[in-house]
Amino acid sequence: MTREVSVRAAGAVDGERLQARHEQLRAIGAVGLTGVSREAFTEADFEARRLVSSWAAERGYPLVMDDIGNLFIRRPGREETLAPIVTGSHLDSQPAGGAFDGAFGVLAAFEALEALDGASVVTRRPVEVAIWANEEGSRFQPTTMGSAVYVGALPLQEALQATDSAGISAGQALRQQELSPLSLGRREFGVPFAAYVEAHIEQGPILESVDVPIGVVTAIQGLRWFTVRVTGQAGHAGTTPMGARRDAVAASVAMIHELSRAMTDAEDRVRFTVGRLDVSPNSPNTIPSTAIFTVDFRHPDASVLARLGDQVAPICMANACGCTVSVSETMNAAPTVLDPAITETIRDTARALALDCVDIVSGATHDAKQMALACPTGMIFIPCRDGISHSVLEHAEPHQMLAGARVLTGVIATLASDSAGPAPFPPSSLTLQGHKGRG
Ligand code: GLV
Ligand code: MN
Ligand code: MN
Repeated sequence: MTREVSVRAAGAVDGERLQARHEQLRAIGAVGLTGVSREAFTEADFEARRLVSSWAAERGYPLVMDDIGNLFIRRPGREETLAPIVTGSHLDSQPAGGAFDGAFGVLAAFEALEALDGASVVTRRPVEVAIWANEEGSRFQPTTMGSAVYVGALPLQEALQATDSAGISAGQALRQQELSPLSLGRREFGVPFAAYVEAHIEQGPILESVDVPIGVVTAIQGLRWFTVRVTGQAGHAGTTPMGARRDAVAASVAMIHELSRAMTDAEDRVRFTVGRLDVSPNSPNTIPSTAIFTVDFRHPDASVLARLGDQVAPICMANACGCTVSVSETMNAAPTVLDPAITETIRDTARALALDCVDIVSGATHDAKQMALACPTGMIFIPCRDGISHSVLEHAEPHQMLAGARVLTGVIATLASDSAGPAPFPPSSLTLQGHKGRG
């Protein structure tokens, strides 16, 4: 019975509607013909949220928002007092990002609600679409900020105090934006979910290389973020002898060189990136007085994450070249194993829809990592062209999006209709289980 409902709901997914909505969303903050720039809490981010909210309003789905800007769209169930099955992702992007990272998961989630309507499925539990705030963490650190605050892994005040490179705080940016004219209800943090399932592009090359349309995510690798601040002494580029300099960029180059030598492995599983380097005063003929750079380090194995991550500060200190160095860790998220029962439901659903699937470990991080602290959680991946993401070149084909949305819809229909339902974790599990520090 549940399987019949699942297949019927999946069959009501409308690929043309999904594409039309994708094009509408892609136009907001468009960069060239293919990319988007919708960093968290910018006007473009909020315009995207207003667009999705307007679709919800047209359908009569109630909306609620919490104090970090997470937005929830609800399709009621037969037993409204039960915890909802939640699906979703994020609408914010990298500074010059793609139109699929996050957006696909939100569109597929909204399509699932519409498909349930289209197939006249009355679910036992309510189903909600979550639009998580500031998943990317490019403007305000850390990444997955909204979902981290929701589950209690990051204090609200700490999140609101995070500043961007112009000194604007997340709290200020959030206050400047309004979702009006929509009137929204408020939601408290930590309201329990029965389960969370997120659809996303893979953001890597595996599914494309094996030519399989659906990835069943079994785990999300861990990550640690650091900010390194190097302080030297400004001076004249033409007159200061080389031996008398305290050059913050020269020191940073030495540190990054040694870090990249340490952060390698024979299996090519370590991921190490210095994605930001801010130099001051940033003048061609002045010796740099300060340099601030970020380190993004990831690995699926907690012991490697600990061992190599703990070397970041000592390596920086050992290569200070006369400068003063401070290293702060802005995120430390353990590898996350997703719920086996939900991953099995994803496999079952893909099989029922005659779609091949393969297990995969996520290299990217996701709001699902935070939700896994609070409720049974799963993720569905679709391929993306050449494995490219965090780039304006990011691309997924319409038929790939359709397949992912169909599997998501079938899974949601199953979980929300199942008379037993997944067992929610007790609310007391809304803590930092398995995680050290933030994230
Ligand atoms: C998410 O955008 C990530 O950095 O993995
Ligand atoms: Mn994403
Ligand atoms: Mn991303």
